[in-house]
Amino acid sequence: MAQRKSLVAGNWKMNKDYAQAVALAQELSYKSEAWNCEACICPTHLALKGVANVISFDKAAISLGAQNVSAYDDGAYTGEISARMLKAVPCQYCIVGHSERRQLLLETDQQIADKISALITHEISPILCCGEPEVVYQAGGSEDFVEQQIKAALESLSSDYAKDSSLKFDLVVAYEPIWAIGSNQVASPEHANKVCQRIRESLAELFDEDLAQKTRILYGGSVKAANSALFFEQEHIDGALVGGASLDAQEFSDIVVAAAKSYSGRD
Ligand code: PGA
Repeated sequence: MAQRKSLVAGNWKMNKDYAQAVALAQELSYKSEAWNCEACICPTHLALKGVANVISFDKAAISLGAQNVSAYDDGAYTGEISARMLKAVPCQYCIVGHSERRQLLLETDQQIADKISALITHEISPILCCGEPEVVYQAGGSEDFVEQQIKAALESLSSDYAKDSSLKFDLVVAYEPIWAIGSNQVASPEHANKVCQRIRESLAELFDEDLAQKTRILYGGSVKAANSALFFEQEHIDGALVGGASLDAQEFSDIVVAAAKSYSGRD
């Protein structure tokens, strides 16, 4: 089995104002002493610096991620935040292509590809989200749908890599079936593993086998402390992207501890 460092990432979405985010980060910082697995928290842009200060003051082993980024570095893009600015916080990760942004903000594959490229330029790891709607799942089309999303988002990175295979980047992919997000209707671990395997095969086609084996693939969609271990047992699932359950320090901490337990010896 490939050596992959597992990851549990918390997507706080548009929850927790500045003071609440700092308070939650403080609680997590205290709990993180028991974690033994990489964990990342993704507050709103407004709270990134405050959360970064908690992490650095406490010297906590917690990574920091943003929820969105502009494809541009600077300039007249009102309301946007660049990868260069995220790097300065400092953020190590950034979620890209979440289904809420694809659906509610009509984010396109091209925009997602451009954001990935901006993040890689600034050495921030993209957490690329993909996942099918329920009708596609019911029709048995999950794997093909997700493969198409992965190829659309990563085609231009893959051609840069073909030209220069010394290009360094740390990509994370999160498989999040849309029907499982925030619904308590969790995917079966076997289904999630099958789709994550197809994602890994697609990465091998786009890049090479080595990169595909190294890339961490997470499952997301109604992950809770009570069901997380079932996902972490799967061969192609290297962690979780957690929404609702990441807003509760104890629940999130329990998921990270479950990941550390399942992956001990695998990392
Ligand atoms: P959920 O959200 O854990 O609340 O289902 C996951 C996500 O949207 O990243």
